Amino acid sequence: EQIEKGGYDHFMLKEIYEQPQVIRDTFRGRLLSDQGLIKMAGIEDNLNKFTNAKRIIIVACGTSWHAAQVAEYMIEEFARIPVEVEYASEFRYRNPIINADDVVIAISQSGETADTLAAIKLAKEKGAFVFGVCNVVGSSISRETHAGAYTHAGPEIGVASTKAFTTQITVLALIALRLAKAKGTMSQSDYLRNLIELELIPEKVQEALLENDRILEIAHIYKDAPNCLFLGRGFNFPVALEGALKLKEISYIHAEGYPAAEMKHGPIALIDENMPVIVIAPQQNHYDKVVSNIQEIKARSGKIIALVSKGDEQVKNLADHIIEMPNSTEALTSIIATIPLQLLSYHVAVLRGTNVDQPRNLAKSVTVE
Ligand code: G6P
Repeated sequence: EQIEKGGYDHFMLKEIYEQPQVIRDTFRGRLLSDQGLIKMAGIEDNLNKFTNAKRIIIVACGTSWHAAQVAEYMIEEFARIPVEVEYASEFRYRNPIINADDVVIAISQSGETADTLAAIKLAKEKGAFVFGVCNVVGSSISRETHAGAYTHAGPEIGVASTKAFTTQITVLALIALRLAKAKGTMSQSDYLRNLIELELIPEKVQEALLENDRILEIAHIYKDAPNCLFLGRGFNFPVALEGALKLKEISYIHAEGYPAAEMKHGPIALIDENMPVIVIAPQQNHYDKVVSNIQEIKARSGKIIALVSKGDEQVKNLADHIIEMPNSTEALTSIIATIPLQLLSYHVAVLRGTNVDQPRNLAKSVTVE
């Protein structure tokens, strides 16, 4: 097992550090940025189904459901196709409206999740075209779907998903951009910029990993916190959800993710000097709004850990701690922002002495209801 961990203390840490490589593996051969093209066989062969779809429904569970949330924002923003994201477990039992011109995308790392599999079968019965985004080659979901695209994350051993999530977003970004090109819904310059930026993601993720020591220091300070709040807006709202999920899964600290602006409708009541609040605040579209959210937290003595763009000065002056990360396009920054949150959960869990790779009560793949 020590050999399999490749010198890392845990599989989770190894898998976090593999991300630059596996993200590159995921877009290799598919992203031809010098030609301005994206080629994915599963999409090309079924392009009409996607471009004619009135609606795309994405079904998933757990971390894959968070990737689905990012995909909703990407597909709607880039390709202007309405998207609904559903928990597979809810979808399968609520007599959902599915039409033959709906496309259903099922996202699953393992390809074996029982609820997701059942949701796929239901969608097929109703005549929808079902596309899978799986990591495990030859898995049940990859066989049950009409077509699909694999993430090339390699085996993920840690129960808490890390590299599967960022490679799922990578595949979904490729799909969203390919559909935008087919539908003519995006300016050529925005389209090309996203292609070029996607190609740069592995090195930017590598750069984000360099903050590890600073993140470890922050983990030492907050390891005994009973609660923690994660906030983000836009593409980073699902990243906040995923950050909270990671922390609760492996450290057993109660954590919640929220869209930053929703804070005032509830979570703000919890903020006092004992509440660490992790705010994803890159210098992008919603920056000023996130800064005012940070001011609201500060006014209530909350402890602010801010994820900021490199060189940010404004948030630095407000936050208790900052973690810097490189910028990308707004959509793709969601991949980069995920990295520090993974490292933070990891270090907090290690310091609390939990079983990081096999947290209590959780399974890597949930093949029963
Ligand atoms: C379990 C795992 C999670 C995973 C979820 C969905 O809960 O512990 O890490 O996100 O199942 O799994 P899937 O394989 O369908 O992505």
